[in-house]
Amino acid sequence: MTSLLEVEELRVELATRSGVVHAVDGVSFHVAEGETLGIVGESGCGKTMTALALQRMLPRPGGRIAGGAIRLGAEDLMAKSEAEMRAIRGRDIAMILQDPMSSLNPVMSIGAQVAEPIRAHQRPARNVLHEAVLRMLDAVRIPSPAARAGDYPHQLSGGMRQRVVGAIALSCRPRLLIADEPTTALDVTIQAQYLALLKDLQRDTGVAMILITHDFGIVAKMCDRVAVMYAGRIVETADVRTLFARPAHPYTRALLEALPSMEHRSERLKVIDGQPPDLRAPPAGCRFAPRCAVATSACHTTDPPAVALGPGHVAHCLLAGNA
Ligand SMILES: Nc1ncnc2c1ncn2[C@@H]1O[C@H](COP(=O)(O)OP(=O)(O)O)[C@@H](O)[C@H]1O
Ligand SMILES: [Mg+2]
Repeated sequence: MTSLLEVEELRVELATRSGVVHAVDGVSFHVAEGETLGIVGESGCGKTMTALALQRMLPRPGGRIAGGAIRLGAEDLMAKSEAEMRAIRGRDIAMILQDPMSSLNPVMSIGAQVAEPIRAHQRPARNVLHEAVLRMLDAVRIPSPAARAGDYPHQLSGGMRQRVVGAIALSCRPRLLIADEPTTALDVTIQAQYLALLKDLQRDTGVAMILITHDFGIVAKMCDRVAVMYAGRIVETADVRTLFARPAHPYTRALLEALPSMEHRSERLKVIDGQPPDLRAPPAGCRFAPRCAVATSACHTTDPPAVALGPGHVAHCLLAGNA
């Protein structure tokens, strides 16, 4: 499979009053055409900043890409001007955010909002645009699109609003869709429907997807490969089957153990003791060592090397491979 996106040694820094947050610290991964890569990890480990960096949309002021390379197809995204990036956003890379309300304009009809990126990137004739909008609303299963296109976001349920966000994201047929916790705000049934819809749309359009989540259940359902992030770094990458069958990094294992199994739904979720480190001053050595049950003294001082465990399976752990 050809790589659509290649990210190498990406570093993101956020300047704050109390110091520089090293939100992403040397992250490398790729996404093949049409595949879904899951990025998983606890809150605060740099998932969202990674996603925003891919579109060069870091928070301002303060956020910057401090190093690394990002290539989309043949394009070097780090070399693009701001105007060139504006053309790429929405057309080649689109994003679905966690909270649909924050990405929808409350005073604009949903039809007009779906039309906006198509108009900006393709400048179609009016009737062509109208048809395209109805087709997109239909594609995301908005019932009677012609009747609903004039509705405003507050007239729709949460699930329908998130569908509209999906329609906006996919309206220009992007090559890469980044979905950042797209279903966190939805209840479980609506969440399952939305994920099934995303899968259908992906099958129909061939769009590649980066799905950011803290939920391994969603990963199992949606992803081909997974990158597990901890404290600004990827600690393990594997195809989904391998990751569930043979997790090698103690952090991955701890996350999987924290999953409620079907038989034990009523039991309290096991959580990992302790907190992720402060990314203004991350610890030396392995960043997970302070919370790791099997860490040795070397883990606290030595940067863990990348250990290849099988095709496409890499863990950054001093103990991986001999455990
Ligand atoms: N606007 C911001 N200003 C300063 N620090 C931020 C900002 N947003 C996020 N951070 C910090 O950057 C780190 C990574 O955050 P983020 O990428 O949002 O994590 P995740 O999406 O994995 O929950 C965290 O330490 C977080 O506190
Ligand atoms: Mg986030």
